[in-house]
Amino acid sequence: MKTVGLIGCGAIGTVLAEAIERGLVVCDELFVFDVDPAKAEKLKKAVNFEVTIVPSFEDLLKSKPTVIVEAASQQAAKEYVPRIVKTKAELIVMSTGALLDLAVDLRRVHVPSGAIGGLDAIASAALAGINEVTLTSRKNPHALGKNNTKAEVLYEGTAEEAAHKFPREMNVAATLALTVKPAKVKVQVISDPAVKRNTHEIQIKWQFGDMFLRFSNEPHPENPHTSALAAWSAIRLLQTLLEKT
Ligand SMILES: NC(=O)c1ccc[n+]([C@@H]2O[C@H](COP(=O)([O-])OP(=O)(O)OC[C@H]3O[C@@H](n4cnc5c(N)ncnc54)[C@H](O)[C@@H]3O)[C@@H](O)[C@H]2O)c1
Repeated sequence: MKTVGLIGCGAIGTVLAEAIERGLVVCDELFVFDVDPAKAEKLKKAVNFEVTIVPSFEDLLKSKPTVIVEAASQQAAKEYVPRIVKTKAELIVMSTGALLDLAVDLRRVHVPSGAIGGLDAIASAALAGINEVTLTSRKNPHALGKNNTKAEVLYEGTAEEAAHKFPREMNVAATLALTVKPAKVKVQVISDPAVKRNTHEIQIKWQFGDMFLRFSNEPHPENPHTSALAAWSAIRLLQTLLEKT
């Protein structure tokens, strides 16, 4: 019996449930929990298979899912991750910014590539030694909760601070920071009315070469803060974990 426990029934959670409905992810039961019961009900109605809504995080743990997917918020991840890693469940964390502050064994946590990718190559380079990493994220003001009419640099600094200042938009910075550790990531966040997609450019200079990766992602229609690719990365990782367990 393979079951999935989902925390957060928003944009990512719903795409994930739809992937189960379409048979892209094979599991026997889906348990969902959301602090907003209406969001859980909405997800249940959106799919054509039996979804079990649980009323609390404790009830989700009691259902002993094979894999738990956190798709809620950095605050939620900070609260739940330390408790989930003590259970037998495999854990996927979307709100990766939270992992920068938690003293948990990260080997117990699966970090999806989220709105970026190429983390295999970046992690390989990190083993040899990375000299410089920069992340430039350019989003439409709408996706950043802004209304500037000209391109504006909203933030320049560290990945850790970027992930905290933009908890809904810059988990990518945290994911990159976790991948290149102990190297530090220089981040720039630009609010640009000329772009419609969320774009992330990563430049790396490492001991034996350099890399340039560019991602241009459609925002999720119901949550412009989130890139569609992030949900698909969770689906891919969930698929792999369920096949292995
Ligand atoms: N790793 C990445 O690259 C990446 C990319 C995009 C989004 N994200 C992150 O993934 C998370 C989910 O994104 P989304 O677009 O689905 O968000 P969303 O806002 O559409 O949905 C989040 C859902 O979680 C629920 N929720 C919030 N706090 C909760 C709690 N404490 N317990 C239970 N439920 C709670 C909300 O009610 C909401 O229904 C966010 O933190 C987002 O920033 C990560």
